[in-house]
Amino acid sequence: MKILVTGGAGFIGSNFVRRTLQDAYPGLEGAEVVVLDALTYSGNLENLAGLESNPRYRFVKGDVCDGPLMERLVADADAVIHMAAESHVDRSILDSRPFIVANALGTQTVLDAARRKGKKGQRFVYVSTDEVYGSLPLENPDLKFTEDTPLAANSPYAASKAAGDLLARAYHHTFQMDVLTTRCSNNFGPYQFPEKVIPLFVTNLLEGQQVPLYGDGKNVRDWLHVDDHCEAVLTVLEKGRAGEVYNVGGNNERSNLELTHSILELTGSGNDKIKYVADRPGHDRRYAIDATKIERQLGWRPTRSAWPGALKQTIDWYRDNTEWWKRVKSGAYREYYARQYGA
Ligand code: NAD
Ligand code: TYD
Repeated sequence: MKILVTGGAGFIGSNFVRRTLQDAYPGLEGAEVVVLDALTYSGNLENLAGLESNPRYRFVKGDVCDGPLMERLVADADAVIHMAAESHVDRSILDSRPFIVANALGTQTVLDAARRKGKKGQRFVYVSTDEVYGSLPLENPDLKFTEDTPLAANSPYAASKAAGDLLARAYHHTFQMDVLTTRCSNNFGPYQFPEKVIPLFVTNLLEGQQVPLYGDGKNVRDWLHVDDHCEAVLTVLEKGRAGEVYNVGGNNERSNLELTHSILELTGSGNDKIKYVADRPGHDRRYAIDATKIERQLGWRPTRSAWPGALKQTIDWYRDNTEWWKRVKSGAYREYYARQYGA
């Protein structure tokens, strides 16, 4: 089994690659993994450090918009896990163009490469997000996103991911390709780029700085540990039905204020460290996932997301890996590729 992982040097991608190569997911014991990654600002080869000597691992630096390269890579892949993306909402508000290029055009390019040159019997998993569904009201806590909730993306990031969702659907419908889509809630865990709220707040507090809380802090996110997400993607790859969409969530809703107070407590910081700042434009109020379909049909369940233990474990990881995030915050992580690959 050979798996091509696009975006494998990012947060979720690198956790997915480690899990697939090292944790022996049933049926994938001898699997080979090829990582394709452009190493944008959020791609970091240090996330995959130590795997270089593994004969079942190969890294290729390249862009998902490069059709000929993608055609070469899909030609001998039994599975394509497409996660390469521009991933941060705030950046998409500042400049949406790179999002449309990587997430819409990039997804079209990878799908088209798989259609033209994909190995016979290849499965294609498109890793999407719950943000394509838009926002839920705080007032009705029973409302959750199901797979039938209409797409109503609100941020340029979400809109560019939704373009990928529609392309994935269209390539299945038109060309009968074996494409599956996952839509997951907010992830947390090791190796997350410290622009996202949890690693940003944790590393700021470990440095004695304040944390910028947007608006009134009442926005709600449904937090899932990255290992649970990776296992969901592997489950969908193994057992999912072609053309289907699967929601993935932790049933673990927290307001940003609750989350911030937990992080303050677990890092031994005081409330004076909260800095209320202007709200994000168009800030989605609440995300909540109904994951009944993947649970009932495929037997997946989150096992590593229980709160606050999983949050504490994640904070401990950042405390124990200061060097990793300091090199990210200083920009030094960019040298790693040149050291390993001499370019
Ligand atoms: P990330 O920003 O940490 O990683 C993205 C990776 O994609 C990086 O390694 C980057 O170098 C690479 N990349 C970007 N543009 C590329 C291009 N044009 N060609 C090749 N590689 C490129 O993001 P993440 O949080 O790991 O998210 C991974 C995927 O999961 C994304 O598709 C995202 O939409 C989805 N997702 C993320 C979350 C979350 O909470 N982080 C939740 C649900 C879904
Ligand atoms: P983020 O980690 O950017 O994920 P997403 O926007 O994709 O859900 O943000 C999570 C929540 O935290 C979101 O409601 C915005 C909020 N937030 C802050 O309050 N301050 C910050 O500095 C950041 C980055 C996010």
